[in-house]
Amino acid sequence: MSDPLRLGIAGLGTVGQGIVRIVQTHAALLEARAGRPVIITAVSARSRTKNREVDVSDYAWEDDPVALAARGDVDVLVEVIGGDNGPAKDATEAAIRAGKDVVTANKAMLAHHGQALAELAEDAGCVIRFEAAVAGGIPVIKALTESLAGNEIRRVIGVMNGTCNYILTRMESAGLPYEEVFEEANKLGYLEADPNLDVGGIDAGHKLALLSAIAFGTQVDFDAVELEGIGSITIEDIRHAADMGFKIKLLGVAQMTGRGLEQRMTPCLVPGTSPLGQLQGGTNMVVLEGDSIEQIVLRGPGAGMGPTASAVMGDVMDIARGLRLPTFGQPAATLKKARAARAAVAAPYYLRMQLLDKPGALAKVASVLGDAGISIDRMRQYDHGEDIAPVLIVTHKTTRSALDEAIAALPATRVVQSEPVAIRIEAV
Ligand code: HSE
Repeated sequence: MSDPLRLGIAGLGTVGQGIVRIVQTHAALLEARAGRPVIITAVSARSRTKNREVDVSDYAWEDDPVALAARGDVDVLVEVIGGDNGPAKDATEAAIRAGKDVVTANKAMLAHHGQALAELAEDAGCVIRFEAAVAGGIPVIKALTESLAGNEIRRVIGVMNGTCNYILTRMESAGLPYEEVFEEANKLGYLEADPNLDVGGIDAGHKLALLSAIAFGTQVDFDAVELEGIGSITIEDIRHAADMGFKIKLLGVAQMTGRGLEQRMTPCLVPGTSPLGQLQGGTNMVVLEGDSIEQIVLRGPGAGMGPTASAVMGDVMDIARGLRLPTFGQPAATLKKARAARAAVAAPYYLRMQLLDKPGALAKVASVLGDAGISIDRMRQYDHGEDIAPVLIVTHKTTRSALDEAIAALPATRVVQSEPVAIRIEAV
């Protein structure tokens, strides 16, 4: 029989316990598939005495994940501690220095230090795998790195934060304001310890930066991701967007343009009938577009014990079977520093404003838009009791700078009664 693959699990939170459970309940299945046993030899967590859903008493215990990583009876460090710096990174580096492979679910660590860690690992002949870091249980890293390796990737789009999708879809279905649904999500335990990681788009931005690196052969550049959270999305905009046939999503888009690599994680409108538009609740969806494949849509659970542990175990099984891929799909030394596109490609926009209901008001707005080179596609004015009318405009394709120029010129018309809301419409 081949030697067992010996895992050291650093972190026994939800995901760590999920991994222990899979290894314990599926030992025979894992061995049959890998052709060798996959076992846990040691674990590490902050508290040894905490009540857990799984029994870890058969494994050696280390208080310090760095010590765990360096143990002679650990072949693979499974890092599920989290955090971009600190113990997670220290343990990862210690494992690589000791010649161990690493499987991690840590998007923040890789978004900030992915290039350096990949170089360190590849110089040491080790692998770092991170399927669980992006879109939980959805095998999107595998799809991009392996299945689509023969494609030039054109665009990666996706809803990669389930909490934000839960909040936005719940606001619509229950007709509740953002603040109320945020509190609801908090009570349900959906939010990260720092909620801004979720609602500020940072967690999803980390994931997009990792996918970009694989898709475009570039060094991970999280700082170049244009980030905007969902905190300013109102129930009015969700309703009006729906009325015009759209849904509002926190949407990640990465594409290589003539002006450089565009990476955005921002609220966008998508057609309500599209797969992304129909995505409900905490589910994730990633759409991959390549020159030969055209488009594939991957949908599934983006978080949770089972799905995240499932993704970790997929990576573990690759290593057990001897599949050794570069961290970002090509040798780290060949990943290029991408020029960041300073502005997104042109797109249609949704504009909402409160307009004084008097003769010529609409004409003034249309003229400001026209002066900025913006053409109107559709327009709707809603019933209203007072002399202020809610007006929605869907523009033809325009740049954000032209739109900003128009928005800056609107107050001078003296007919626009509030700061207009502008949201990009993404073709999906
Ligand atoms: N907080 C994330 C989400 C899961 O809501 O999708 C971990 O990345």
